[in-house]
Amino acid sequence: MPQKSISVVRVADPAAAATLVADEIAQLAQEKRRGGSALVLGLATGRSTVAVYEALTERVLAGSLDLGAAIAFNLDEYCGLSAGDPRSFAAWMRERFFERVGWPRERTRIPSGLVGGADCEGHCAEYEDSIRAAGGLDLQLLGIGRNGHIGFNEPGSAQDSRTRRVRLAAETIEDAARDFGSAEDVPRSAITMGVATILDARRVRLLAFGENKRAALERALHGEISSDSPASFLREHPDLCIYADAAALGQSLPRKASV
Ligand code: F6R
Repeated sequence: MPQKSISVVRVADPAAAATLVADEIAQLAQEKRRGGSALVLGLATGRSTVAVYEALTERVLAGSLDLGAAIAFNLDEYCGLSAGDPRSFAAWMRERFFERVGWPRERTRIPSGLVGGADCEGHCAEYEDSIRAAGGLDLQLLGIGRNGHIGFNEPGSAQDSRTRRVRLAAETIEDAARDFGSAEDVPRSAITMGVATILDARRVRLLAFGENKRAALERALHGEISSDSPASFLREHPDLCIYADAAALGQSLPRKASV
């Protein structure tokens, strides 16, 4: 079993975390290029990640980061929304990142919110296959939900879960209401990479800021490793780094630990 390495780094704010994550991605992109292969990134949407996309965009525009050959796979998408819908995660990514850096569309993948019924299973299996065919995720960027979700792996998600359609939890719908105008307008289901898909990434970097993430982070770091807190499964990962501010960390002391 590979040695597990969990780092918890306290940062002043999201911008400080973004600098560290963007530097690491830039370094990784360089290493991959030297080795003759393409960087494969797993990406997340959400407030916690905005500063990372800004930092990466700055580097690309300044010429210190080349994402030309890189491939991106996003974690999740709401069911029922087309990629052209401004409320979709696909639109969120295009607007905040992909279009700003001119990342070719065919190398940015995100599950489709429009496949339903019998086609859904095949679409999810195909998403898993394309991650594998790309060589696997070099680094997966994550936020954490108030309820401990990662991607849209809500409480109850199994450690061996793969890309699939899920029902969104009440807290998730409540939190998304600000993006949709009201909770009634938030889609009830989504397609998400699974916990196992995330755990297969070679590096996992999770961002958590603000007091409303404190309880979820505390459980993920110190609670029982179980489906009740999907983020707790990350403790099984061989290369996990959590960037969090003081408000999110609370009593969880920053540490660099190998367990
Ligand atoms: C987004 C995603 C979610 C978010 C999480 C935190 O693609 O999969 O797990 O990362 O809900 O969201 P923010 O960062 O908005 O607090």
